[in-house]
Amino acid sequence: MNSAARGPVESAGDTSLPWWTSAVIYQIYPRSFADGNGDGMGDLPGISSRLPYLSALGIDAIWLSPFYLSPQADAGYDVADYRTVDPRFGHLTDFDAMLAQAHGLGIRVIVDLVPNHTSDEHVWFQQALTSPEGSAARDRYLFRPGKGANGKMPPNNWQSIFGGNAWTQVAENGAPGQWYLHLFDTKQPDLNWDNPEVREEMRSVLRFWLDRGVDGFRVDVAHGLVKEKGLPDWSGQAAMVEGSEASPQAPHTASPEALNTVIEPPAGVPAHRPKPAMDPSSPFLDQDGVHEIYRDWNLVLKEYDGDRMMVAEAWVEPPARLARYVRADEMQQAFNFDFLLAGWDARRMAKAIDESLDAAAGVGAPATWVLSNHDTVRHPSRFGLGDPTTFPKGIGADDEQPDEEIGLQRGRAATLIMLGLPGSAYLYQGEELGLPEHTTLEAQHRQDPTFFRTGGVERGRDGCRAPLPWQSAAPGFGFGTSAGVDGGHPVPAQQPWLPQPASFADYAVDREESDPDSTLTFYRTALALRARLNTGHGLLIWSPLNKPGDGILAYRNGALLVLANFGGAPIALPDGYAVELASTPTAADRGSLAANSSAWLVQQT
Ligand code: NOJ
Repeated sequence: MNSAARGPVESAGDTSLPWWTSAVIYQIYPRSFADGNGDGMGDLPGISSRLPYLSALGIDAIWLSPFYLSPQADAGYDVADYRTVDPRFGHLTDFDAMLAQAHGLGIRVIVDLVPNHTSDEHVWFQQALTSPEGSAARDRYLFRPGKGANGKMPPNNWQSIFGGNAWTQVAENGAPGQWYLHLFDTKQPDLNWDNPEVREEMRSVLRFWLDRGVDGFRVDVAHGLVKEKGLPDWSGQAAMVEGSEASPQAPHTASPEALNTVIEPPAGVPAHRPKPAMDPSSPFLDQDGVHEIYRDWNLVLKEYDGDRMMVAEAWVEPPARLARYVRADEMQQAFNFDFLLAGWDARRMAKAIDESLDAAAGVGAPATWVLSNHDTVRHPSRFGLGDPTTFPKGIGADDEQPDEEIGLQRGRAATLIMLGLPGSAYLYQGEELGLPEHTTLEAQHRQDPTFFRTGGVERGRDGCRAPLPWQSAAPGFGFGTSAGVDGGHPVPAQQPWLPQPASFADYAVDREESDPDSTLTFYRTALALRARLNTGHGLLIWSPLNKPGDGILAYRNGALLVLANFGGAPIALPDGYAVELASTPTAADRGSLAANSSAWLVQQT
């Protein structure tokens, strides 16, 4: 364990640094945050109405998952028009109003950029379908001829990250034609980043949102844009494509005007094949060529004032490889998935902290920390499993059910570990309430394409996307406000787009707000203390108390000593320290720190 003091930047305590070096950034998943018009789907006016709540929570910025025009085949990560707000979420004027209100409250706004793929309903893809092989319209995507007799086999053996084949064949005037690549769903064709027009268009999209005043971008699949030249087969997937002739999923047809359409898969193709993890050794992830794109975008952001930033969603290993995305002339931040994947385990967490700080320092970038997001099982639920280091791809009613109480206890303990660290921290909406995953969602309600593309083997990500509970006694737990007035009577809001578990009543904002022991009160206190102690700009020094092998994690950051007990029995609190905050009201009591708990301690003078 490295005993030297390490932090995000050499000048610890310097508050003149860009805001993002130490910011707490709250992820909003727009469809599930707050429904302002009562149609059952969250929206931009809903977000605006809850900005005072976020301001009181004490966050520095919000990141909005996509709200752009989209057929919603992947909940908005399938963009049909990068410059238009989807009517489900409102209009550009609603976005502008929300942005102005957030800025008025001192909250920065980051929007999602999805550059790896568009929707198949994007005008470019529609043009590609109606254009011949070799045309400029096709060259914006990755169209290739098939292999074997009559090109019936996909161009290579790549599998979709969502499961099934990564290629779908189109028909050319009724006859089988070329195939197009989609690392994700059939409805998410990959763009060709060797095409200058694609590069110019995405620069223009950046400027469109920068001109409106956004503070930054979360870059989706930042490690996927460039593919290895020649699109070679990948041995990591060879075993997965035996007998594969075409995509097993029902492809979506192109617009009615299209001359060419997407071919239906042959009957009898198995409904599920194993899918690869985001394996960074693949020829479609973490190619060196992506960095040129981010150097280019870095210059675009520099055209604007006010420390605009980018954060990379890049599932890349090891941390030193991830650090390449945050070199001085590329992005500003990258999500730290190593920390998220460590689970509730002192050794794994200490290793992730050590390696992340070292890698970030190696390129002079701040570290970031995250425990949950819209793609992962919520951390209190993961930590409530028999093995709290497992990383299930969703949880269904037939799967092991987490222990909600112990999971929440560990979840709050992990939060204090995270918020005491130097750097920037990401929170996922609802974690401030201690929300668990919806683990018993019925198949009929599931919407995540990963559930369908894996034939249900992966339960998918719907469980962490259940709409937030605002009022314990209201229908839909107050997710939606009234849908207007009819004959002088308020029209009740429609049911939320995804059912919420009954237990959400216990986690509703109105109930937690007035409870001094609630998770919401705990987060508010922790965030206020974090700001006061300036831990984001601090330096980490492992304490002599740190013994990950014995389930104890202990580090100092400025005046703060963070102590966590991963073991099954209480441990002694050090003498001469006062407890500033403990992960639960009774966690640090009578000289000891309870099992599955953590505390922030400050030396008494
Ligand atoms: C990562 C996003 O976080 C996820 O939700 C999405 O499905 C994929 N990228 C594809 O855009």
